[in-house]
Amino acid sequence: MRYRPLGRTGWMVSEISFGAWAIGGAWGQVSEKDALGALHQAVDSGVNFIDTADVYGNGRSERLIADLKKERKEEIIVATKAGRRLPRQTIEGYSRENLSAWIDDSLRNLATDTLDLLQLHCPPTELYSRPEVFAILDDFVQAGKIRYYGVSVEKVEEALQAIEHPNVQTVQIIFNCFRQRPADIFFAKAKQKQVGILARVPLASGLLTGKLRPDSTFAADDHRNFNRHGEAFDVGETFSGVDFSVGLEAVEEVRRLLPARVSMSQFALRWILMFDAVSCAIPGGKRPEQVAENCRASDLPPLTSETMAEVERIYKQKIGPQVHHRW
Ligand SMILES: NC(=O)c1ccc[n+]([C@@H]2O[C@H](COP(=O)([O-])OP(=O)(O)OC[C@H]3O[C@@H](n4cnc5c(N)ncnc54)[C@H](OP(=O)(O)O)[C@@H]3O)[C@@H](O)[C@H]2O)c1
Repeated sequence: MRYRPLGRTGWMVSEISFGAWAIGGAWGQVSEKDALGALHQAVDSGVNFIDTADVYGNGRSERLIADLKKERKEEIIVATKAGRRLPRQTIEGYSRENLSAWIDDSLRNLATDTLDLLQLHCPPTELYSRPEVFAILDDFVQAGKIRYYGVSVEKVEEALQAIEHPNVQTVQIIFNCFRQRPADIFFAKAKQKQVGILARVPLASGLLTGKLRPDSTFAADDHRNFNRHGEAFDVGETFSGVDFSVGLEAVEEVRRLLPARVSMSQFALRWILMFDAVSCAIPGGKRPEQVAENCRASDLPPLTSETMAEVERIYKQKIGPQVHHRW
């Protein structure tokens, strides 16, 4: 495993880290044994950074991470999120009182006194022009409740606005072979300001593992079933907002580019690592085998410029028209 600096935090994080949404909920049933097994495998593979949120399984994901930390001696940095407990997303909802209560819940779930990194969880776009919310977060840092804070955004424009706030340390954004726009302008600006970038949904919710088929089905409590058209939250979080059948066609084109002995998941992750502005990719994993396979992407040699150009061509022809202007 290779490590990269996380913005100005001083932390070096595993370039393949771990996304802990699926082990919390909204991805079908994952047993406690598999979930903990996946987390332990991540640490065995050199992962030292885990992304979670208070709402993943209503605290289950955070509590599993607390269990992991009890059983491991390695330093494990945990990034959590707040904001999605609101029944409706409003600026007023991001009040001192609400933030304080959400932070306290996460501190309890994670069994710690200070949160390593707190991210605002896809708040409304207008929030990025409200410095008073960031001033509240500064106060929580001062008080020692959180070490650093960052944001998780839906759109590139939100990311650009977010990094104008001087103490935003990280931006989490969807970035993968099927979501290439963040690399256009945002990455250069983030690098200039030394802001860490967490590339989320790196496997396009499993599309970029190459295992899905036109007749693949998903459990009723898996967002790939219940949020296929954005019924529950932003449709961009499910298959990166790419129409399933169009995505499958593009995946077949990507498959032709795979070097020998490299899986599609590893290829998709290695593609992300080609961008040095990215601090880490945070693939989800429900079982130890998935995690081990994903982590090995860090050992692969760089992709060739011809391969990178081909992925760009596939994106521009097949995927871009659906997603480029939206996020
Ligand atoms: N708003 C936000 O802030 C937000 C939103 C979304 C995600 N995130 C974060 O980003 C992380 C990653 O995104 P994601 O979990 O949505 O999607 P993802 O990483 O693109 O896809 C993860 C899923 O792909 C499948 N998979 C993973 N590795 C595999 C492998 N090697 N072989 C076969 N299948 C594999 C697993 O599901 P199956 O086995 O069921 O196919 C896994 O749950 C999340 O866990 C979360 O921490 C944040």
